[in-house]
Amino acid sequence: MHAGYSLDASRLTAIGDERFAQGRLDEAMSAYRQALSLSPGFGAARAGLDAILERARTPRPNEHLIALLLEGYADEGANWDALGWGAAHQLVVGWPKSATPAEMAGNGLLLEFLRKSLNRDATLERHLVALRAATARLLLQPEPSPAVVALAAAIAQQAWQNEYIWPDDPAVPDGIAGAMYRPQPQPQPDALEERRLAAELPELAPITDAVSQSVAAMYEANPYPRWTHLPRRPTLDVRASLQRDFPHARAVDFETPLAVLMPGAGTGQHPLLVASTYDNVEVTAVDLSRTSLAYGKRMAARHGVGNIEFLRGDILDLPRLGRVFDHVECVGVLHHMADPRAGLLAISAVMRPGAFLRLGLYGEGGRKIVEKARRDIAAARIPPTLEGLRDFRRRVMGGDLGRLAGLTAWEDFWSASLLRDLCFHVQEHRFTIPRLRAFLEGSGLTFLGFEFNAGSAHRAVAEADPIALYRARFRNETTLSDLARWEQLECEKPALFAGYAFVCQKD
Ligand SMILES: C[S@@+](CC[C@H](N)C(=O)[O-])C[C@H]1O[C@@H](n2cnc3c(N)ncnc32)[C@H](O)[C@@H]1O
Repeated sequence: MHAGYSLDASRLTAIGDERFAQGRLDEAMSAYRQALSLSPGFGAARAGLDAILERARTPRPNEHLIALLLEGYADEGANWDALGWGAAHQLVVGWPKSATPAEMAGNGLLLEFLRKSLNRDATLERHLVALRAATARLLLQPEPSPAVVALAAAIAQQAWQNEYIWPDDPAVPDGIAGAMYRPQPQPQPDALEERRLAAELPELAPITDAVSQSVAAMYEANPYPRWTHLPRRPTLDVRASLQRDFPHARAVDFETPLAVLMPGAGTGQHPLLVASTYDNVEVTAVDLSRTSLAYGKRMAARHGVGNIEFLRGDILDLPRLGRVFDHVECVGVLHHMADPRAGLLAISAVMRPGAFLRLGLYGEGGRKIVEKARRDIAAARIPPTLEGLRDFRRRVMGGDLGRLAGLTAWEDFWSASLLRDLCFHVQEHRFTIPRLRAFLEGSGLTFLGFEFNAGSAHRAVAEADPIALYRARFRNETTLSDLARWEQLECEKPALFAGYAFVCQKD
């Protein structure tokens, strides 16, 4: 049972999880809702309900779902990213033919969505851009209604979240209307606070590697990602859970609190989730970018997460820390180094024997379209500025780069920092399984296995269930950790992996 919650809430959530896995979503939803009515703060039930609301699709607006989405937006612990998918769908199917700002200002779901979720739907973006123009026109008339002003503020909040990636209109002046189009000249209090925090961050060592310097400059300009809230999740004993998932791992007892290292911490979204949900941990978040870390530090204070420290530095310099760590998570980082293996060796050098390392790396097979995009961007000389990013999107979403329209299915298409990271990166390596084998060889780390549901950035449904394929094919290899066999499968199905998320253990 989860500490502090009723047995019934735990049991009902377990029933919900079982029904969810069987695809019986109505029954799962009812079980999660009953669990939440008994224990409103029960993270596992909230996460289950959010996962259903994320997937719910109806041909017409559904009042019941809309009420549940609004309930979710009223709950600080709900997953507003997940709710955003379901909310966007309800808004699209219910969008009036000739939507006016006065009418849409009364749509509670729209206002909550704009304030709390990042839009990732192309149809909805078209509606919102038209609504923004109509709202700006009303704001420029004398005495706009308070409801229209509130709508404009919600659109401005969305624009802040997407980092002003929608097209600008220079005819709209700065001020309350202009805030829907571009950053305003006066810095916001949060930005001022981040500047102060950035200047105070402790530094591991000066950044000297040339690629690290240019990667740092990129993330100073576009800290990745901009995020707004920390969903409530059930507490997790991370070592026990990995030991369950990979029973062939060596069992080693560690003292708590676990020292957890997060190299390439970015703006702190992943490290804060780890610090707030993993049981009994102290997190050290390291990154090249002061601006990114300062964002994370501000969010840590806002969410009352105290078991985390932020440190500016290069992964290459980790051994200078003179400390060892019991657990490491490094997702979306090493493929941006000049020599990813040098980064891996630096991480391995600061791991205690028996510690787990969770890694996420780009895969060649899953990024064909990104590769094409990078070539087109280079050929067309599109700069990685806000103007360049907007121009690229315009051309992809209906212009001469329509062959890249598949990029709109990627979660990272929808804000400036996400898109820059996806298609305009200054340094990117892509792995294949043979490259992965060479990468791990002699690193002091043993490959335990892949993780297939851990935060893939690509929302397209996988071509096939890799685990089922592996099991069917190699019945005698039950650990699923033989990279040579995975290589065989990947040769047959080159799109098997969207990317490589996997776990290793320090020898
Ligand atoms: C794509 S972001 C990923 C952020 C975070 N891990 C996440 O998943 O949200 C990559 C981050 O890695 C950091 N990074 C890249 N190379 C690094 C290095 N050599 N040392 C430290 N951080 C690095 C960048 O500054 C950036 O914040």
